[in-house]
Amino acid sequence: MFRGKSRPWVGPQIQAEVRGGHWSEQQILVRLRPGFIVLKLKMASYTVKIFTGDRPLSHTFNNVYIKLVGEDGESERKWVKGMFGFFHGSESTISLSCKESLGKLLMIELDKQQLPLFAQDNWFVDKVEVTSPEGQVYKFPIYQWIEDEDTHYYMEGTATFAFEEQKAVVKGARELELERRKEQYSWAVYEKGMPYCMSTEDGLPSEVKFSYSKTIEFTRTYFQGLGVMKLTGLANCVEPWPDFDCLHRVFNWHKDETSEYVYEHWRDDAFFGSQYLSGLNPILIRRCTALPQHFPVTDEMVHLDLNGEMEKGNMFLCDYKLLDGVKTNVINGEHQYLTAPLVLLHKTPMDELKPVAIQLKQKPAEDNPIFIPSDREYDWLLAKTFVRSADFHDHELNVHLLRTHLLAEVFAVALLRNIPRVHPLYKLLLPHTRYTFVINTLARKQLISEEVGSEGVLTKYAAAGGEGVVSILQGALSSLTYRSLCLPEDIKDRGVESVPKYYYRDDGLRLWDIIHRFVSGILTNYYKSDSDVQKDSELQNFIKDVFEHGFLSRKESGIPQSFSAVDELVKFVTMVIFTCSAQHSAVNNGQLDIGNWMPNFPPTLQRAPPTVKGGANEHIFLQTLPDVNATVNILAILWLLSEQYNDVYPLGWYPEELFCEEVPLDLIKKFGEELKELGAAIGKRNTNLDLPYKYLDPELMENSVAI
Ligand code: FE2
Repeated sequence: MFRGKSRPWVGPQIQAEVRGGHWSEQQILVRLRPGFIVLKLKMASYTVKIFTGDRPLSHTFNNVYIKLVGEDGESERKWVKGMFGFFHGSESTISLSCKESLGKLLMIELDKQQLPLFAQDNWFVDKVEVTSPEGQVYKFPIYQWIEDEDTHYYMEGTATFAFEEQKAVVKGARELELERRKEQYSWAVYEKGMPYCMSTEDGLPSEVKFSYSKTIEFTRTYFQGLGVMKLTGLANCVEPWPDFDCLHRVFNWHKDETSEYVYEHWRDDAFFGSQYLSGLNPILIRRCTALPQHFPVTDEMVHLDLNGEMEKGNMFLCDYKLLDGVKTNVINGEHQYLTAPLVLLHKTPMDELKPVAIQLKQKPAEDNPIFIPSDREYDWLLAKTFVRSADFHDHELNVHLLRTHLLAEVFAVALLRNIPRVHPLYKLLLPHTRYTFVINTLARKQLISEEVGSEGVLTKYAAAGGEGVVSILQGALSSLTYRSLCLPEDIKDRGVESVPKYYYRDDGLRLWDIIHRFVSGILTNYYKSDSDVQKDSELQNFIKDVFEHGFLSRKESGIPQSFSAVDELVKFVTMVIFTCSAQHSAVNNGQLDIGNWMPNFPPTLQRAPPTVKGGANEHIFLQTLPDVNATVNILAILWLLSEQYNDVYPLGWYPEELFCEEVPLDLIKKFGEELKELGAAIGKRNTNLDLPYKYLDPELMENSVAI
């Protein structure tokens, strides 16, 4: 290109000389013999930097073309560089000259074309930066695989709304982006009565798949877990556990400090109660102000003034009614059992939460005794173990799968179908969708699939396998409320504001506040009034999609059908980020801690619940536990889902620079600082606990439902 120093020109008839500023106006002197004619040509010079992603196989050997589009015109489509130019992690710089300045840059068009001897390869582009002749730097965040020869349009990174767009060319590109996304991300029905999921008929788009490194790590962990069990013959052993020692050998394989604590305390009432506060399922417990009629506990049974204790706020109830009537599985040819217990708990003067009465089935009856701590050791332990098995199902299917994984997928599909990449909501929420599609696709195939011959692990080895899984998910969705997804309201509604040692609540509320402050800062930077929210048609389509496909248009859920105010939007987006990060971490990361000692978290039980007291002993207890193959197959999955992987984006870490303006970038920084402070406070608190509560430490949670 013509820049800087003089350069003699050209051919016998014409000589040209370029003088010029370094940027926009170049004077070309054209000498035609015998005289001179001076032509002044304005040439606007743009510096274009293309950043190829730093990940395996993200390079391209294809030809790349770029075109700049500004308010005052468009550049030519320019061939950037041929082969060997775009290696992973590389930065490629070119100059692009136009006859005159294009004005404010609006977007770029990017495409790549296959070379004759090379395959059509997949190119991962991080971003493009363009410096204009006026010295202005324009950023175009991309973070996408380009796999075809189509032209791709990327708008300048300043977040905008559709209703602000004046330029037809940008409006058109915005609409085209959503049209293409709707083809890529379409809704599918997994089972009637469950949230819609993403259709995977054509496979998953490349940008939502696991990275190569995570795929390798994940696959290795899976095969290490199950492979060893298969080699030892345990994965196919259809015998019951002969004694606790044998079971302990399997436990030893993956034990750590936390699971060791569980092993030592699993029979203790105080530990049983504490799992409702800081265990895997911390959202079931409610304050009990009146006993349900179908749970006729008396003062004499529990040696308490129940009314007085209820008035003082010392009684709590855990009701597994969701599991009532669920059809159970047949494993190794044996019918399996799952109950729908009611558990009454008492907060003692020592601030311990202890179970004082357990009724295993919902309907009171003579053959449905109310068990109490003073019953014989194995009667009481067996009753508690039926509760723990019920908790396995409520936790894995409702609390974990439905309320985090499946909802996160709904939010992600709705986001990608309705919100273009230049919208602030896309920039805010996209990092919280990372790997959700791929992990949910795996969960549907490997955990709950009913496909004959390749049934999922839960389908095969949980009490509610197959039909029961679906009916629990359907029941859970039909009673799910928006308020229960918003932690401050959920805590109030369950009346558990002042229960001591409720670390899930304490850490969770602080996290909720931090996320809320961050979301509010970002969104109020763009939405200046409620009217902006009301006229944002893309946003309204997003929430309509969530309401219809996530909550099946159930108005009683309280999920918004539209947004009319900024505050409403801030609360909803806070809930989305909290659900995908904090809530998932709280209910996911401790699965092996809690379940490694299987009697504390049995996936199934193979003897009927006791109908009388006095019949249980150690032998019956062991016979009731799942067989060896059911135990180890579930353990392998718990290990897989609890493993710490290297390819992790912790909460608040946004290495992809989707936002380009100063205000959101400052808010991201502040968000990170507040999370770090919370992590330090949690760490300090945990040093004084026998069993540290680490699941809501921001450093240990991911941005998204990624495992
Ligand atoms: Fe999970």
